[in-house]
Amino acid sequence: MNSRPIGIFDSGVGGMTVLAEIAKELPNEDLIYLGDTKNFPYGDKSKENIIKISKKCVEFLISKNVKLVIIACGTATSQALEELRKEFNIPILGIISPTVESIKKSVKEKSKSIIGVIATEGTIRSNKWEQELKEKIEDITVINKACPLLAPMAEQGWTVNKVAKETIKEYMSVFKDKNIDKLILGCTHYPLFKGLIEKELGNGVEIINTGEKIAKAVTDYLNEQNANNDKTNNADCKIYLTDTECNFINVAEKLLKDESVKDKISKVNIE
Ligand code: DGL
Repeated sequence: MNSRPIGIFDSGVGGMTVLAEIAKELPNEDLIYLGDTKNFPYGDKSKENIIKISKKCVEFLISKNVKLVIIACGTATSQALEELRKEFNIPILGIISPTVESIKKSVKEKSKSIIGVIATEGTIRSNKWEQELKEKIEDITVINKACPLLAPMAEQGWTVNKVAKETIKEYMSVFKDKNIDKLILGCTHYPLFKGLIEKELGNGVEIINTGEKIAKAVTDYLNEQNANNDKTNNADCKIYLTDTECNFINVAEKLLKDESVKDKISKVNIE
């Protein structure tokens, strides 16, 4: 048993899609969320910069005595996970490996899968999704598409309006007639557009939310390590933001269907 909290970070509200899945799967765990809103967006920053700011995020979460860090961000996972693991002596999980492992289990042997990946510019540039998918799964074709407008739109709460509809239509056009089986939402902001994406691609395409996969991976990890929190009620959730002049509260309240999000937020300086 380990009653210390789980630490989660992202550049903004996107990682809350991961937090929501973890809270569902592990209702006894205390959670500490860091939204690095001051440095948003991560998606167009250099790898050096992503490593530097991710280190600050991990240092902050460690100062809160977390037992495990979850990088609820595709951009930071793809560019900083290895460096962070070298630097810090705490378990750190990213969103790519648990998702690829889960896809591997679901893909039938000898079947040729075509998988689409949408993510930020930085994540697509790193090519980490394609590398890991091809390393772990035979006969797989990967079609990548950077969607740089989506994370900023999600931060604004523009996820179901006319602009969102047109933007999703435009971005999804690369997958038309390509017969993809699955689409990985490689940025944690993108589950906020899931409804529009599903409509655009039709029922035949499985939309993969990395938050669901990581929540399962965290459950397995805590079981293996015997590191669950065995408290039975009132799990605590604290949210820290590096800048509060943003739309975080509105978007997070809608996402979590919880009007008390604002009471959980504190401003923090991680520089
Ligand atoms: N939600 C993040 C990701 O998964 C970051 C998006 C951004 O800050 O550009 O990549």
